[in-house]
Amino acid sequence: SKETTLSQLFLTFHGIPYPVTMCTQETFQALDDFEARGDDVLLASYPKCGSNWILHIVSELIFAVSKKKYACPEFPVLECGDAEKYQKSVRRMKRFPSPRILTTHLHYDKLPQSIITNKVKILVIFRNPKDTAVSFFHFHNDVPDIPSYASWDEFFKQFIKGQVSWGSYFDFAINWNKHIDDENVKFILYEDLKENLVVGIKEISEFLGFSLTDEQIEAVSAQSTFQAMRANSQETHGAIGPFLFRKGEVGDWKSLFTETQNQEMDERFKECLAGTALGDKLKY
Ligand code: A3P
Repeated sequence: SKETTLSQLFLTFHGIPYPVTMCTQETFQALDDFEARGDDVLLASYPKCGSNWILHIVSELIFAVSKKKYACPEFPVLECGDAEKYQKSVRRMKRFPSPRILTTHLHYDKLPQSIITNKVKILVIFRNPKDTAVSFFHFHNDVPDIPSYASWDEFFKQFIKGQVSWGSYFDFAINWNKHIDDENVKFILYEDLKENLVVGIKEISEFLGFSLTDEQIEAVSAQSTFQAMRANSQETHGAIGPFLFRKGEVGDWKSLFTETQNQEMDERFKECLAGTALGDKLKY
């Protein structure tokens, strides 16, 4: 049954709630010893900000420069999986040729030390918090084997409090905002990619130091539209595919937010991000 009590949902590690179905204490401890390579690429995001989109784009870019094909299941989120699964991924990743792609929903200051020491290039994908919340709500309630919420209102309350998987969107944003000007860090906005995918992909490609022709960039772009990714989603992501590629739009929050919730979110956004580099950048 999808009936659950919230206290059973989370494992709290260093003050942040993570889903017990996906994360374990042992894996968090093992992460301390993760060996990043200097030429790894890390994709960091709060859940539902478009991590699978950017993973696909970066995989296609790497394929275009090296003809090396990445299969998505090869790239579990760094902190997900029990100890055994994690060790298996680590062994498999050791055999991968560079550049490898890593993905995470962790705060910057919770990353394995080797990622910082090796100055791994980091792409951080952000999305406005309203659409992120709506996408997260649907994800919980659509996917059969994860806990669902009684209502949107209930989810919204927990989201604002940060009592959801991977904790508060705002804490995540505040934490990463401190690194917005780091040389090895680039922020990408979901809304910017929606507005101009070709330009966004070109920027990502340049940040990664690839030199691709306009034709190559356009080819990657054509394969990275929502329609293209959704059409292939069962093949690329299995049964969960159609849930991961649900709607793919900017402004879907209007379908669920009440006016009071809208004001509450605006207030929270102001408190946490007004006047910060990320707050100014985020299309909102
Ligand atoms: P919606 O639920 O609003 O449709 P993540 O990959 O981080 O879990 O994020 C999932 C969200 O990104 C979903 O949002 C999904 O539809 C959207 N998404 C994935 N691929 C996309 C694409 N190519 N274009 C636009 N949105 C995309």
